Amino acid sequence: MAEVKSPAIRKIGVLTSGGDCAGLNAVIRAVTDAAAGRGWDVVGLRNGHLGLLNDPPDILPLNADSVRGDLLRAGGTVLGTTTKSDPFKFPGPDGATSDRSGEVRAAIGKLGLDALVVIGGDGSMRLFDRLLAGIGIPWVGVPKTIDNDVPGTEFAVGFFTAVEIVGQSLDRLASHAASHRRIMVLEVMGRDSGFIALFGGIAGGADVILMPEFPYDLDAVAAHVRKITHDRPNPVLVVVAEGVSPPAGDRRKGSNVGIAIAHGLQQRTGFDTRCTVLGHVQRGGTPVMFDRLLATAMGARAVHVLAAGENQRMVAWRAGLVTEIPLADVVTGPRFVAKDSQLIRTARRLGTYVGEL
Ligand code: F6P
Repeated sequence: MAEVKSPAIRKIGVLTSGGDCAGLNAVIRAVTDAAAGRGWDVVGLRNGHLGLLNDPPDILPLNADSVRGDLLRAGGTVLGTTTKSDPFKFPGPDGATSDRSGEVRAAIGKLGLDALVVIGGDGSMRLFDRLLAGIGIPWVGVPKTIDNDVPGTEFAVGFFTAVEIVGQSLDRLASHAASHRRIMVLEVMGRDSGFIALFGGIAGGADVILMPEFPYDLDAVAAHVRKITHDRPNPVLVVVAEGVSPPAGDRRKGSNVGIAIAHGLQQRTGFDTRCTVLGHVQRGGTPVMFDRLLATAMGARAVHVLAAGENQRMVAWRAGLVTEIPLADVVTGPRFVAKDSQLIRTARRLGTYVGEL
C-alpha cells in the first residue's frame, strides 16, 4: 500500500469493545504512538460504545507520554470495555429498550473525530459497521479475542496468551494425573469455535480434544482412554471447549460440560476423574510475546491504513504478515475450526481423539 498522508485526519478515537483479553493495551499503545508520530491527536473512548452515550462523552486523552512504560505488558484494557447494552436496543431502567445509536454518532461528531480504530471481535466489527454506516467517518478494525474466531485473520490478539495458559495448565494437570492415575478433564473457553482447545490441547499434549465444531461419542472417548492406558500407565488429559454439547442423556442443567464429560468418563472407565474449569483466567494477565508482536504490528498498521485514506477495513495476520482486508469479509463471522485443517490432521496423526470426523 502506498504511503499517502491524508490531510483530512487530525484527530482519531480508539476504543476496545467486547470481552477483554491480553494484548489490548499493547494495541492502544501502538495506535497512539503511530498516530502521534504523524502529528495526530488521539482520544481513548472509554467502555466501548458506552462512554459515547455519556454527556459529555467519557474519554481518556492519549499521547506518546501516556502510553510509555508498562502499557505494552499490562493485562486488560485501560480504556475499559463492554459486552452489554446494544445501542440499537438499549435497555432502560424499566426494562424497555430504545434505539440510542444516534447518540453514539452525535458524540463522535461532538468530539471532532476524523477517524476511529475499533479493537474488537467479530461481534464488535458488526456493531460498529452498523453504527458508523452513513456518517462517513473512516474506521479500521483490529481483531482481538481469545476464541480466535474472527474471519479473515489467522490470529487475533489475545489468542496465544490463552493458548499459553491452557498449555501450562495441562503441564500441571499432567503431573497430578500421573501421581493419582486419574483422568483430568480441562474445560477451556470457546463458545462456538474450538481453536483454544485445539491449539492448547496439542501444545499441552492432550489425549482427547473436544470442540464445538465436531460431534463426539463418549463411548468412543472411553474406548480411546482404555486403549491408551492399556500398555502405558500415563496420565490421561482431556480438553473440552465450553461450547461442546453435553453427553447424550445428560440432564444436568446449567452445569459445565466438562464436569458432565468427566462424570461420564469415570462411569465408563472406572478411572477416578476430575474436571478443572479454566474460565476467565484465560483472558487475564500479561500478554505473551507473540500477542505483543501481533498487537503492535496490527495497531501500527491500522494507523497506516487510515493515513492511506482507506475506510471499513480490518487489519489481519496472514501467512506471517500483517495486511488488511475489507470489513465486508469479516462481518459474516464467526470463524470455525475446519475439519481438513492442518492441526486437525496433526492431532489425528498423533492418535489424539478429536471427535467423530
Ligand atoms: O468470546 C470470548 C469469551 O471468552 C468466550 O470464550 C466465552 O464464552 C465468553 O467470552 C465469556 O463471556 P463473559 O465474560 O461474558 O462471561
